[in-house]
Amino acid sequence: MKLLVTGGCGFIGSAFVRLALARGAAVVNLDKLTYAGNPENVADVADHPGYTFVHADIADADAVADAIRGADAVVNFAAESHVDRSILSPADFITTDVVGTAVLLDAARRADVGRFVQVSTDEVYGSIRSGAFHETDPLAPSSPYSASKAGGDLQVLAWHRTFGLDAVITRGSNTFGPRQYPEKLIPLFVTNALDGLELPVYGDGMQVRDWIFVDDHCEGIWAVLDQGVAGEVYNVGGGNEEANLGITRRILELTGRDASLVRHVADRPGHDRRYALDTARLRGLGWEPRHSFEEALAATVAWYRDNRAWWEPIKSGEYRRYYEEQYGTR
Ligand code: NAD
Ligand code: DAU
Repeated sequence: MKLLVTGGCGFIGSAFVRLALARGAAVVNLDKLTYAGNPENVADVADHPGYTFVHADIADADAVADAIRGADAVVNFAAESHVDRSILSPADFITTDVVGTAVLLDAARRADVGRFVQVSTDEVYGSIRSGAFHETDPLAPSSPYSASKAGGDLQVLAWHRTFGLDAVITRGSNTFGPRQYPEKLIPLFVTNALDGLELPVYGDGMQVRDWIFVDDHCEGIWAVLDQGVAGEVYNVGGGNEEANLGITRRILELTGRDASLVRHVADRPGHDRRYALDTARLRGLGWEPRHSFEEALAATVAWYRDNRAWWEPIKSGEYRRYYEEQYGTR
């Protein structure tokens, strides 16, 4: 099987590239290498005979038409993925997450690709007070990021209905693990704690997320690629609900720091209070998460402790400018 994977130099995409190669697929990884795309994330497979890299934008129709030739399936990870950046600067989100997705869909249709997998997010459902979201629930996104992902999802479903494209959608919950850009909660707090820096908790810190280890998320996407029913959506959740302050406490323990590092800062505008997913549909395909939250979080903290060379250049360069724009200089 030959896959066109987009965004394969990012956090989850790079883990999926490794999984796909290990399962015997050939992979063309098309990535624009935005601030979040890092060739280091796939350095260990760069010389694999089944791996090819294409430096391109998913919104570039010509580049995508070239890269998609001969692909049996497309797995679309490419996106602007950070909620806070979407609040500062929404335009790139619409260009990549909506327009880029439509360009890819059109190319997939023209190339008669066998399957299109859209990697989406639980954030498209919005916030839920109690219970869990099902795939049939209405979309109510809160941020420019989640609205752009919802726009991408709707394009995917429209391409299926209108053009008969074999397309499926995965909606994953908050993912963590090695190689996650240190703007997201867990890698930001772990790397700050390792350096004895403050942990900026938004608002009261009682917002709840459902955490999933990156390899379990990738296995869920693989199951949907392999066995999902065309036109269907599949939730991919870890079942590990925890408030941000709980995550913060765990990180302080794992890094040997104390609560004096916690700094409550202004809340995120439009901040969703809680996410939770019903995953019965995906479990019906035989998938279940294999990693315990505690062990995977400890392994993730250890990875950041052992891989300063990966994150220190990021935090001293592009990320520092972004952080100072949000919080001022420290
Ligand atoms: P990431 O920000 O780490 O990586 C995104 C990758 O996409 C980068 O390599 C970047 O260079 C590439 N990219 C961005 N714009 C592009 C464009 N126009 N053309 C080609 N490549 C482009 O993201 P991530 O956290 O790995 O998320 C991957 C996908 O999974 C996204 O679609 C995201 O919405 C979804 N998702 C993420 C999470 C999470 O918790 N991180 C959870 C659920 C779903
Ligand atoms: O739910 C899936 C989504 O999870 C993905 O679609 C997104 O791509 C991914 O970024 C993530 O979105 P969140 O907004 O939930 O993740 P983030 O790591 O930005 O924030 C997690 C929670 O922690 C959220 O309630 C905001 C809070 N937070 C975050 C940061 C970066 C803080 O309190 N302080 C921070 O500095």
